[in-house]
Parts: sequence; C-alpha cells; structure tokens
Amino acid sequence: MRKFATLLAVVMLSVFSASVVVGAAFQDSITIKDVKKMKEPVVFPHKAHADRIKNCEFCHHKDTAGKEQSCFNCHKAEKKGNVIAFKDAMHERCKGCHSKEKKGPTMCNGCHKK
Ligand code: HEC
Ligand code: HEC
Ligand code: HEC
Ligand code: HEC
Repeated sequence: MRKFATLLAVVMLSVFSASVVVGAAFQDSITIKDVKKMKEPVVFPHKAHADRIKNCEFCHHKDTAGKEQSCFNCHKAEKKGNVIAFKDAMHERCKGCHSKEKKGPTMCNGCHKK
C-alpha cells in the first residue's frame, strides 16, 4: 500500500511536471469557438483526427512535438500580413482535407451545428 502510494505520487508528480513543460494538455475533443461569435462553435474530435493522421505537425505546422499551441496564437480574427485569419486557417486545413478525401463534413452545418 505504502509502495503504491509512493508510486502514485511519483506518477502524479511526473504528469504534473510534464504538463508544466508542454503547456496545454491534449484534449480528446475540442469545442472550437468563433472568435467573432458569428457562427456556431464546432465540436472537433481531436483524438480521432490525431490517431488517423498520425502527424501532429500536419495541423500544428509551426510547432515541435510536445509543444503544440493554439492556432489562435498566430491566426487572429483578421488576416495579418501573410498569416491568414483564424477562420480561414480552419476552413483551409479542415475542409481542404474533407473535400480531398471525400470524407468528413464539407457542408456548413456539418461542422457548425445549430
Ligand atoms: C470542416 C468543418 C467546417 C466546415 C464544413 C465549415 N466550417 Fe466554418 N468554421 C469552422 C471552424 C472550426 C471555425 C472556427 C470556430 C467557429 O467559428 O465555430 C469556423 C469559423 C467560421 C466562421 C467565423 C467567422 C470569423 O471570422 O470568425 C464563419 C462565418 C464560418 N465558419 C462560416 C462557414 C460557412 C458559411 C460554411 C459553409 C460554406 C462553413 N463555415 C463550413 C469549421 C468549418
Ligand atoms: C486535424 C488537425 C489537428 C491534428 C492532426 C492535431 N491537432 Fe491538436 N489541435 C487542433 C486544433 C484545431 C486545436 C485547437 C486550436 C485552437 O484552440 O486554436 C488543437 C489544440 C491542441 C492543443 C491545445 C493547445 C492550446 O494551447 O490550447 C494541444 C496541446 C494539441 N492540440 C496537441 C496535439 C498533438 C500532440 C497532436 C498529435 C498527437 C495533435 N494536436 C494533432 C488541430 C489538430
Ligand atoms: C506560431 C505561429 C502559428 C501557429 C501556432 C499556427 N500557424 Fe498556421 N500559419 C502561420 C504562418 C506564419 C503562416 C503563413 C505561411 C507560412 O509561413 O507557412 C500560416 C499559414 C497557415 C495556413 C495556410 C498555408 C498552409 O500552410 O496551408 C493554414 C491552413 C494554417 N496556417 C493553419 C493552421 C492551423 C490549423 C493551426 C493550428 C492547428 C495553425 N495554423 C497554427 C503561423 C502559425
Ligand atoms: C487530413 C485529413 C483531415 C483533416 C486535416 C481534418 N479532418 Fe475532419 N475528418 C477527416 C475524416 C477522414 C473524417 C471522417 C471520419 C469517419 O467518418 O470516420 C473526418 C470527420 C470530421 C468530423 C465528423 C465527425 C463525426 O463524428 O461525424 C468533424 C466534425 C471534423 N472532421 C472536423 C474537422 C475539423 C474542425 C478539422 C480542422 C481543425 C478537421 N476535421 C481536419 C479528415 C480530416
């Protein structure tokens, strides 16, 4: 029991320090909200996508493994220089693949559920 408690403490400690290093934790499902509140939020099955694509960098294209950050850190409400707006970053990356693979929603209400 004592051994187990120590082990648990070690595990918890390492999980805790790991999360300090990587920043935000990986979430299985993410509700992506509209920065301008114009459109319904999109429920994004993050884990299902990560498992299928097997390459975090396909979306987190400026990040190194373990340091993935919010797209919104760079893609803002409006386009800035060569950095496209948040909405366009989503539409290009998400819809782009869905149309190419002919799988996953491409119609507006397939993602923006009322
Ligand atoms: C593959 C999923 C997907 C599809 C299909 C899709 N969108 Fe989006 N869209 C998103 C995501 C993700 C966001 C960012 C979060 C949010 O606004 O809910 C977004 C954001 C938006 C915004 C926010 C505007 C802003 O400047 O912040 C508008 C408007 C929008 N979409 C319109 C549409 C329209 C119109 C269609 C159909 C022609 C469409 N979307 C299809 C995923 C999608
Ligand atoms: C299909 C695209 C896609 C793939 C593949 C993907 N992610 Fe994400 N990830 C996103 C989106 C979209 C968000 C939410 C972005 C936002 O809030 O601006 C996100 C958010 C995150 C966040 C939270 C960032 C923060 O600070 O809010 C982490 C951490 C993360 N992803 C890690 C990963 C890891 C690790 C993998 C690979 C195992 C991965 N992602 C694969 C699209 C993806
Ligand atoms: C650290 C800043 C940064 C982050 C974080 C970031 N981007 Fe980008 N993104 C850029 C810049 C800069 C460009 C302009 C072209 C380039 O340099 O690749 C860009 C371009 C794009 C483009 C258009 C060009 C292309 O590569 O297809 C898409 C789509 C895109 N980003 C999607 C995303 C998504 C989705 C996320 C989050 C999962 C994300 N970006 C996170 C900086 C960032
Ligand atoms: C590289 C390809 C690829 C990218 C990039 C991608 N998707 Fe998908 N997505 C798929 C495929 C394939 C499916 C269909 C999965 C299935 O039917 O089992 C899917 C399904 C979905 C679904 C429907 C899930 C369900 O349970 O019906 C949503 C919502 C979705 N994607 C949103 C997004 C959003 C939002 C993004 C961008 C942040 C994104 N996808 C980026 C390939 C992609």
